[in-house]
Amino acid sequence: MEVIILPDAGSIGRLAADAVVALLARKPTAVLGLATGSSPLVVYAELSRRYDAGEVTFSRSKGFLLDEYVGLPPEHPQRYRSVIRRELEDQVDFAPGAITGPDGLADDLPAVCADYERAIVDAGGVDLQLLGVGSDGHVAFNEPGSSLSSRTRIKTLTARTRSDNERFFEPPDEVPHHVLTQGLGTILEARHLVLVARGPGKAPAVQQLVEGPLSAICPASVLQLHPHATVLLDDEAASLLTLAGYYRETYAGKPDWQGL
Ligand code: GLP
Repeated sequence: MEVIILPDAGSIGRLAADAVVALLARKPTAVLGLATGSSPLVVYAELSRRYDAGEVTFSRSKGFLLDEYVGLPPEHPQRYRSVIRRELEDQVDFAPGAITGPDGLADDLPAVCADYERAIVDAGGVDLQLLGVGSDGHVAFNEPGSSLSSRTRIKTLTARTRSDNERFFEPPDEVPHHVLTQGLGTILEARHLVLVARGPGKAPAVQQLVEGPLSAICPASVLQLHPHATVLLDDEAASLLTLAGYYRETYAGKPDWQGL
């Protein structure tokens, strides 16, 4: 796992965008794994800027969402499919139909989950998966206690996650209780994982995911099993890391040609 501690959100967005732009330059048909929540927004904003500057095209690439709320109507602004449309798809040049998310409004949700797994495999698998982390260590919507080899399925949100996500919902709308999420086993099959975490509220989860034991109590600790995982942090999110000095020193001495 490569841990990179950066001074601000802009630097995190630029570095993650560099990895996406480099991937699309060498593989224009790359499959991107798209996360929601506030953490990846700096990455999407930077990708939109690079697209406007003519530095990247998404025209042959595909995208798969990590997760989705169950039961939010199509026009709901917090439906993750709407968030990705607003924050990325409408800003760049994906082909129509190139971005897919699990349908949280379908009658047969287990069938949707199985089809979603197949669609990812049929697309050739995810090349680069963007991730955030919840304050309780959840990744996508894999809450504590999730199987480390889980696949796309229905999950029930914890009270903590529902309360963390309340800021996105205008009363009387409530955070749904149920969601569809790629499993931890699904996420581990992506070729490169890039997790972004910022702010002091994420510091305990970041400490657990990077340096804690591999455990279902911190689902994001599953990144320790991945051969190519990059964790991008600001100083606050990194504040509880025992080896912060080592990560800083390693990154400062990293050759430019190496990339992420
Ligand atoms: C939600 C999403 C996760 C995200 C998490 C943290 O629960 N399903 O993918 O990582 O929120 O969100 P934020 O980045 O807003 O803190």
